[in-house]
Amino acid sequence: MRLKNCHNFQDYRKLAAKRLPGPIFNYIDGGADDEVTLRKNTASFDAVDLVPNVLRGVKDIDLSVTVMGQKLDVPFYCSPTALQRLFHHRGEHAVAAVADKFGTMFGVSSLGTASLEELRAKHSNPQVYQFYFHKDRGLNTVMMERAKSAGVNVMMLTVDSITGGNRERDLRTGFSIPMRLNARGLYEFMSKPAWGINYVTHERFRLPQLEGHVDMSGGATSIGNYFTEMLDPSMDWDDVAKMVQEWDGEFCLKGIMSVEDAKRAVEIGCTGIVLSNHGGRQLDGSRTAFDQLEDIVAAVGDRIDVIMDGGIQRGTHVLKALSRGAKAVGLGRFYLYPLAAAGQAGVDRAMTNLHNEVLRDMRLMGCQSISDLSPDNLIDTGPRR
Ligand code: LAC
Repeated sequence: MRLKNCHNFQDYRKLAAKRLPGPIFNYIDGGADDEVTLRKNTASFDAVDLVPNVLRGVKDIDLSVTVMGQKLDVPFYCSPTALQRLFHHRGEHAVAAVADKFGTMFGVSSLGTASLEELRAKHSNPQVYQFYFHKDRGLNTVMMERAKSAGVNVMMLTVDSITGGNRERDLRTGFSIPMRLNARGLYEFMSKPAWGINYVTHERFRLPQLEGHVDMSGGATSIGNYFTEMLDPSMDWDDVAKMVQEWDGEFCLKGIMSVEDAKRAVEIGCTGIVLSNHGGRQLDGSRTAFDQLEDIVAAVGDRIDVIMDGGIQRGTHVLKALSRGAKAVGLGRFYLYPLAAAGQAGVDRAMTNLHNEVLRDMRLMGCQSISDLSPDNLIDTGPRR
């Protein structure tokens, strides 16, 4: 399998599996517990059929959307994900550059491996900062101030990761940051020498958003432990309401799933919510964002921008989510496998694939602009409730 033979999500996934050491591949690929939610995220799109209209004159297609005040040329964006330097040495730099090319938003994680300032200086497309609420309130304040002065466009607070999900693949492989490996993991690294040589011959792994605050030198920790030990489980709506006020700009909550919480997000002044189950990596058995869209859009869709992520692998998935009322959809593994497989060229190719699919599917659906998509274009084929 080579990059030029990659046409879809599964192709990039296979190539990433070939290139990455097992522990790193499984960190991206895995979910919590029995991975039921992970599988369901994509499967839920199959429970709905698209109903096209024809003869609508679809020569010119406009894919642009406006989300939380940001004009995007395409209705999909690169969600913030952690540790990208581990997957490819260009990490966030490659992803941000491709997002820039497609005129869309990209996310930088608190656990990102490139600094938000550096990325901001290089790219002018909208930047989201994905915030974890740490026990260290001083750190939270500094992180917010830093993001503000760097010119971050949207603050995105993750609310579904207050404790680590049970990721058994990581327990088995011993995946941790900084990397420390058990015997099996070490064997896996040695069996991917190309990755190993690349890793040690490029700039060293860093977590620049946390530098000076979180000392990672004392020993390795798993991502699950990081969440559990560093993040503040007492975080509540009052804390977030204060953050929203302090930020005084576009602010969204990532990981909202209930109608009640969606309404509270509106009440405290958020401008967006991302329906998400964290790619099936946190609470296994939780509902999928796609299945929950209809009720949430009906409840708050006229007062707040509703976005979703989870399981997007195809242009038709994007169209189904937008038809159900999402303003845009986030991608995670969708760009991480290509990043791991081939760096920026991989991400570029995967985003080009998706762009072409969405364009083609819009024409086949008889739609010229995203606002032409509506629930009338969908029929449920199975019981969802
Ligand atoms: C994860 C975090 C870090 O899911 O977003 O691994």
